[in-house]
Amino acid sequence: MTTTTPRSVGSAMSRVEGLDKVTGRARYASEYTPRDLVHAAPVQSTVARGEIRAVDIDGALKCPGVIAAIWYGNAPRLAPTDDPELAVLQSPRVAYRGQYVAVVMAETLQDAREAASRVRVEYAAERHDVELRADHPGLYRPDQVNPDLPADVEQGDPDAALASAPVVVDATYTTPAEHNNPMEPHATVAEWDADGLTLHDSNQGASAVRDTLAPLFGLPPAHVQVISPHVGGGFGAKGTPWSPTVLAALAAKQAGRPVKLTVTRQQMFAVTGYRTPTIQRVRLGADAGGRLTAIVHEAFEQSSTVREFAEQTTTPTRMMYAAPARRTTHRLVRLDVPTPSWMRAPGEAPGMFALESAMDELAIACGLDPIELRIRNEPDTDPESGLPFSSRNLVACLREGARRFGWADRDPTPGVRRRGRLLAGTGVAASTYPVYRRPSQASVRAEPDGWFTVRIAAADIGTGARTVLTQIAADALRTPVSRVRVEIGDSALPTASLAGGSMGTASWGTAVVRACEALVDELDRRGGDLPAEGVEASADTTEEISGQQRFARHAFGAQFAEVGVDTDTGETRVLRLLGVFAAGRIINPATARSQFIGGMTMGLSMALLEESVLDREFGDYLNHDFAQYHIATCADVPDIQAFWVEEDDPHLNPMGSKGIGEIGIVGTAAAVANAVHHATGVRVRDLPIRLDRLVGQDMFHGSSP
Ligand code: MOS
Repeated sequence: MTTTTPRSVGSAMSRVEGLDKVTGRARYASEYTPRDLVHAAPVQSTVARGEIRAVDIDGALKCPGVIAAIWYGNAPRLAPTDDPELAVLQSPRVAYRGQYVAVVMAETLQDAREAASRVRVEYAAERHDVELRADHPGLYRPDQVNPDLPADVEQGDPDAALASAPVVVDATYTTPAEHNNPMEPHATVAEWDADGLTLHDSNQGASAVRDTLAPLFGLPPAHVQVISPHVGGGFGAKGTPWSPTVLAALAAKQAGRPVKLTVTRQQMFAVTGYRTPTIQRVRLGADAGGRLTAIVHEAFEQSSTVREFAEQTTTPTRMMYAAPARRTTHRLVRLDVPTPSWMRAPGEAPGMFALESAMDELAIACGLDPIELRIRNEPDTDPESGLPFSSRNLVACLREGARRFGWADRDPTPGVRRRGRLLAGTGVAASTYPVYRRPSQASVRAEPDGWFTVRIAAADIGTGARTVLTQIAADALRTPVSRVRVEIGDSALPTASLAGGSMGTASWGTAVVRACEALVDELDRRGGDLPAEGVEASADTTEEISGQQRFARHAFGAQFAEVGVDTDTGETRVLRLLGVFAAGRIINPATARSQFIGGMTMGLSMALLEESVLDREFGDYLNHDFAQYHIATCADVPDIQAFWVEEDDPHLNPMGSKGIGEIGIVGTAAAVANAVHHATGVRVRDLPIRLDRLVGQDMFHGSSP
């Protein structure tokens, strides 16, 4: 051990697998092709609700290259599960259009697809109900919302406070269903042998896939191995396994050969989750000086009949601003739709669109600058729990952002900045995301050749996880990064939590640091005497995390947007986006910047483009590809900048870091919508801000709608 090794955390280390990726050596799940491979092509239901009467696979079985075809009538049985979404081909019930109802295995993908098109399914179709409405008779209050929070919270008397407030904003905002659409669709190569099941799978956590699949197939977890070294994005859609992974394993069992199942882009719109649409009513009461006296935020959302997924839409409203009276609620309705799930800052992204739009409306109603309004409502402690914040630097983000963006000389008058055909405007919104940490295990070995090998079943879904873990381990070992090898992406490695909830690095990093500390102690004890087989140490953070002190732990940020709205076409362009974040210690400024601007781009995409359109007749989402489901590209973001403020928070984890994967998304859509209002005088409360929501509106008379 040297005592003068450079500190790696905080430096812009390049991705350790960068060369592998640009040279094509990095292999993704569907690129794994074992001998005797069979290709699987699933069949999707064409009705949104009903029962399968009969399935005729004879036509498919006669096709060239076909090996087998299974449906609920002849599929291998799975053990009962508390996630019916995974009980694929186990029941004749159809719960949503596009649900997998059969699968064909063949020698080539073309053969499998051709044969799958010959499978005839006869349904007893039932009337479906797929439309979310705030007055739907099926609405109910879920027991809790994600991850384990109360559905409703009420403090004080918000109705009385609203009734007596000098200034009131009462507005309803909607956000559409949105599909995750990572660049790499889900894919699984499943292979059975005498020992059990091996999956090459694209996911956000190999340990979780193993632990979910093993009991379904009646196997101990040690007999399932999930291998996922490289993952081309997940955005929440790969946070939990879905039916395709189970179907691949089922098909391989039936075929007696390895099976590859790649989910098509089209199929992703039904079988791998999406963000629930939301209807949100926000009521804010304030005194003439803009101090909030009441906050009421009610959310209406959907889940499927298969499984309850209760998104935590109004929870950020519980900790953002001080107000003596407050109510936040969630109502769900179970519809005949695909099951919604985690997607890109679930809860926070749609919830903060509503809250931060309403705050902008309140600032205008009070004649206050929107930054000043937020500063006046800054709480000392978490308004709901009364707990101290471990750190809270929202105000610093707003001030630093205002300085960098050039907010000071902004004229608040809407609809007056003409640039040729464009009306220009600027907007601001706050951003937040909770700081979570989950138990993980890690091991580290001092190798006789002077290297250190760190092992943990973490997932790098494109974020740079492998790289930052290398940096974290190097510092904990007091060694240069060039001596550290990190092995991740395999369930055979020590069990780790998900790459999700912006908690990967905090969770895995804690385990890695503790394992490294234990190894350093052990090496010190040995006085530099390293046996031929090396020395290994490991850690499990279960106790450390369950015993952590209670604090309100959240990251904060401020988003600034400048837009131009074409007064002829109604088209909105974001001319400039700038975000400032307070997210603890930034471990790698290069990968962190990429995460922040990536998140902000997703927020821009949410503001202007992304929308899954429901077809009421067929009960399915109409758009099934990138031609119809638009996602922002580089051309949509000519000028995007991310900065962060120094934050030294001792109450987080050994690295002092907060999660940064999702906070860039949160607040961006409201900043854009607020800028559109500033530009045009039109308040768009329904995302996305399509041109038809602006054209024909009175864009030239500045005042509020
Ligand atoms: Mo993210 S939606 O928490 O994977």
